[in-house]
Amino acid sequence: MNPAPPTTKSFTDPPELTSRRYYKGMKGILLAGGSGTRLWPITKSTSKGLLPVYDKPLVYYPITTLMLAGIKEILVISTPEHVHLYKELLGNGSEWGLSFEYAVQPFPKGIPEAIIIGKEFIGTENFALILGDNLLYGSGLGRSLLASVAESGASILSYEVANSEDYGVVVFNANGEAKNLIEKPQNNESKWAIPGLYFFDSRALGYAQSLKPSQRGELEIVDLLRCYLSNQELNVIRLTRGTAWLDLGNAASLSEAADFVRAMQIRQGLLIGSPEEIAWRMGWIQTPVTATASVSKSAYAKSLREIESSSYE
Ligand code: TTP
Repeated sequence: MNPAPPTTKSFTDPPELTSRRYYKGMKGILLAGGSGTRLWPITKSTSKGLLPVYDKPLVYYPITTLMLAGIKEILVISTPEHVHLYKELLGNGSEWGLSFEYAVQPFPKGIPEAIIIGKEFIGTENFALILGDNLLYGSGLGRSLLASVAESGASILSYEVANSEDYGVVVFNANGEAKNLIEKPQNNESKWAIPGLYFFDSRALGYAQSLKPSQRGELEIVDLLRCYLSNQELNVIRLTRGTAWLDLGNAASLSEAADFVRAMQIRQGLLIGSPEEIAWRMGWIQTPVTATASVSKSAYAKSLREIESSSYE
C-alpha cells in the first residue's frame, strides 16, 4: 500500500469539502461539442477537446478544474461524431476516482442547451457547467472557488482581458456590482470577460427552457445569466491577476497554452491539469501512477512517477 500524500501546501491541496454544504456531491457538466471552425482544418476529423496542449489532451484541463472544485460526477456532452472518442479517452472515470456519464448534443445550438440535455443528470441540485476549451490555473483556485460560489442563484467568474470584444463581459457599476452583461462588446464597455465556468442552482433548467434562439440561431449563455441578474441573483467572482485563464479556441491560443504549460511544468516540476495528480492529492485514488502510467514511456507518465516519489524526499 502506498503512503498517504505529503502534507506540504500546494495549489492542489484538497479544499475543505465539508466546509460548505453546497459542494457536497455537486455534479458538473462538461460541454465539449461545438464545431471548432476557428481551428479548421485541425478539427476537420476530430474534436477540439482531444487536441494536445503540450503533453495531455485539452479536455484534461477543464476536467481538472472541476476536480479542484471537489466535483467527482461529470456528464460529458459532445457531438454524435465525437462522443465515442471521449468515452475511449476517459472511460467511466473510476481510474481517477471519478464518475463520467456521456450525452450527445446533435447540433451546437448554444451553451444553455447543455442544461436541457443534462436535466436528468442534474436532478434538482446545484451544479457546475464548464466549457471544454477553458484552461484555468492559479494558486488556490479550487479553494477560492469553494469559498466564493454562492449557495443559491448563479455564480460566474470574470477576468480582465485586453481583447474583451471577443467574449461575453460583465459591466460593473461604481460599487463594483454587476449591472449588465454584454456579448462581444463593440464599444469598450468592459474589460471583464466571462470565462466558461458557471455554477447554477436548479432554476437554471427553467430559465434555459424559456430562452429563445438568438439571431445566430443559438441559445445564448448571456441571456441565461441575465435571468439571474434581473432577479439580483448573479454572483460575480473576480479572478485576480494571479490566475491564468486561457481559452483555447484558435491555433495561436492553443500554441500559447502549450508554451505556458510546458514552461510552468519544467519550472516547478509539477504537472498542470493532471487528473491523476489531483485525484491522488484529493485522496480519491491511492497513487497517481495508474496502471497505464506505470508502463508508459511518455514524459507525462514519467512525471507522475516522479511526483509520487519526490513527495516523500
Ligand atoms: P465556441 O468557441 O463558441 O464554439 P466552437 O468550439 O464550436 O468553436 P468555433 O467558434 O471555432 O466554431 O464554444 C466554446 C466551447 O463550448 C467549445 O468547447 C465547444 C462548446 N460548445 C458546445 O459544445 N456546444 C455548443 O452549442 C456551443 C455553442 C459550444
